Amino acid sequence: MAQVQVRDDGPVRVITLDNPPVNALSFTYCAQLLDALGAAEGEASVEAIVLTGANGLFSAGADVNDFNSEPTPETRTVRDVIAAIEHSEKAFLAAIDGNCLGGGLELALTCDYRSATARSKLGLPEIRLGLLPGAGGTQRLVRLIGAQAALEFMLKGSSVSAERAAQLGIIDEVTPGDVVEQSVALAKGVLEHPSEHAPRKRRVSELKAIIGKGITAQAAPFVVSQAHKMVPSEEQGGFAAHKLIDAVQAAVEMSFAFGLAREARLFEELVRSQPSLALRHLFFAERELPKIPGLPAAEALPVAKAGVVGAGTMGSGIAITFAQAGIPVVVVDTNDEAVEKARQTTMGMFMYQVQKGRLTQEEAWARAQSVTFTDDWNELADADVIVEAVFEEIGVKREVFRRLDAVAKPGAILATNTSTLDVDDLAAQTQRPEFVIGLHFFVPANIMPLLEIVRGARSSPQTLATAFALGKRLRKKAVLSGNAFGFIGNRMVFDYVREAVALAEEGVAPARIDRVMKDFGFPMGPFAMSDLSGLDVAWHIQKSRGEAAQGRTRVLERLVEGKRLGQKTLAGYFKYDKSVGKGREPIPDPEVEALFAEEARQAGIAPREVDDDEIRDRLLFALVNRGAYLLEEGIALRPGDIDIVYVYGYGFPPHHGGPMWYADEIGVDRVYARIVEFAEQFGPQWTPSSLLAEIAEKHGSFAGTPTAEELVNA
Ligand code: 3HC
Repeated sequence: MAQVQVRDDGPVRVITLDNPPVNALSFTYCAQLLDALGAAEGEASVEAIVLTGANGLFSAGADVNDFNSEPTPETRTVRDVIAAIEHSEKAFLAAIDGNCLGGGLELALTCDYRSATARSKLGLPEIRLGLLPGAGGTQRLVRLIGAQAALEFMLKGSSVSAERAAQLGIIDEVTPGDVVEQSVALAKGVLEHPSEHAPRKRRVSELKAIIGKGITAQAAPFVVSQAHKMVPSEEQGGFAAHKLIDAVQAAVEMSFAFGLAREARLFEELVRSQPSLALRHLFFAERELPKIPGLPAAEALPVAKAGVVGAGTMGSGIAITFAQAGIPVVVVDTNDEAVEKARQTTMGMFMYQVQKGRLTQEEAWARAQSVTFTDDWNELADADVIVEAVFEEIGVKREVFRRLDAVAKPGAILATNTSTLDVDDLAAQTQRPEFVIGLHFFVPANIMPLLEIVRGARSSPQTLATAFALGKRLRKKAVLSGNAFGFIGNRMVFDYVREAVALAEEGVAPARIDRVMKDFGFPMGPFAMSDLSGLDVAWHIQKSRGEAAQGRTRVLERLVEGKRLGQKTLAGYFKYDKSVGKGREPIPDPEVEALFAEEARQAGIAPREVDDDEIRDRLLFALVNRGAYLLEEGIALRPGDIDIVYVYGYGFPPHHGGPMWYADEIGVDRVYARIVEFAEQFGPQWTPSSLLAEIAEKHGSFAGTPTAEELVNA
């Protein structure tokens, strides 16, 4: 239950934000807070106020849910709370512990003094929601730490430790003891003996805005124009960043009051902007991921040690991921060469983190030591979770599962990192199918944030609970997928690449197709992506599926025959040149275009004039249609799960919210109509999903479609 806790200690009133779980400053909570502040204001005996938070944190900021509702004249927001503090004659001290984010930090910035415990994390993450700090944060931070440092802090949006916040000048001190008691003592000291202490600090709003230490005010236009140049364009995900820079410019050029008004106008513009709506959708979609409708509650099993079978690229990436999360891991492989390479990769990765200042030498050494390599399967006997990452071949994996079942302790979870194979088939090789699951990491496993958790027919609730808890510990966005070919992500990418190849067969240059998708916001196009993951991999999957996933011609087969396997052989759909950049820049290759033309002629595919809109629609709507099928078939739980998979695993631009959100954005009925046209023009691969048809008929949206859970409860 939301409440504002109030207690007095002499002339000091301690006001504790208590709005579980994260002390969000919702409209209704702000009204409560204003009442408490009003009461303190009216009592002459209260001379200073210490603001703090319950539930292990100061505050996570404004309530993001409120941004979708229209404020009324009665609505009270963080801005009102902050204005009340600003206009009070009393002293305010912020006693920070845990997270102090967004509007929470803006609240603290309004206080005269800020102390934080060492474990506190402070940040203005609004940019990640396509917003800017809209309760005076942009204006106060510039006055406190200078425009340059403030821009860096707010454009990144990540939180910093209390120690770093003190270095930056965001807080006044890091307190070792009880931060509330120390703030109370400080307040009393100042009140009792004003001359012995530094005079009461001025409000931040009264400070003069600066650019940075030792930088003259004349540099302001340069700093602002450089910042605009450094962020992506408005269309490419930089919409909020440019507005944020405008707000900082206002802080430098205008009075505090005018700057505040400008910030508020920019904030209101962003709240209604399409990129912010998309990013807020992703924020909530991510928090929905572990909620599995109908799953009996189960406690996650402890994971104290992990095992990995296979020391290849995938296996070593997974091992590093475990080590980074503080879980010791043993990697089993009999190939000495692979082990040596993996050992070097692991050490190199931790040393790189030392170079980047993320780890100390000692930490890096300890983490590297927590990964051990062996050819002895018996060393897996005490592991709580074992992930196999061997060659993508069902026979090979079956054998691994039989051996794992024999060696692993009872109750250990056996996971496959397969990207396409049947988890139930592997579970059937064991005496413990309830402990078998898919944990599909993405390359490079230690960097990519996505993890697909694949539920086998017999995976137990406890196994699922353990997998989700593990996903959180490994700092992955863990998405549940049903056990079907390609799960969610790869199943969708096959359709996406199918359309890219089909367009190339119709005479569109691969470089042009890639350019259109990059213009949409993907970091790379479908052909560069295929080259990166390896054409041999695509060919292997296509052969084992026995169907032409990548096109109607023999282009893929011929490229692989010609040892054009992608980036790793410096030639695939594109060419690569080691002397150009890092050798990863795709260079269009007329030979490949000629190959497409020749193969298309033989297959009787006539060249067509295709505009950029068609290229974009065919690729994106292929994703939407497949996504709708995955929902219909129950492979994916929610449209938001699909969006998370595609944004975090395949580079879908977050400011478009993922493929399903994008369909909503432009109208599901429009998407459906276009898919029907494509089906007539190009064939049955475009048959629309019945869920899509149903939503289109009602002029509905994926976001407005009830989830399985809501249907159960209805
Ligand atoms: N508004 C509304 N709900 C929020 C919220 C917020 N700011 N922050 C967290 N929540 C909710 C989550 O949706 C989740 O709800 P659920 O239990 O129903 O799923 C619950 O709180 C717990 O959140 P997490 O699962 O994320 O808990 P963690 O402990 O893993 O993380 C956190 C806590 C670091 C605070 C993380 O939730 C977070 O980063 N929150 C967002 C912080 C943020 O972006 N603040 C800026 C808000 S915008 C703003 O302040 C505008 C101002 O400038 C005017």
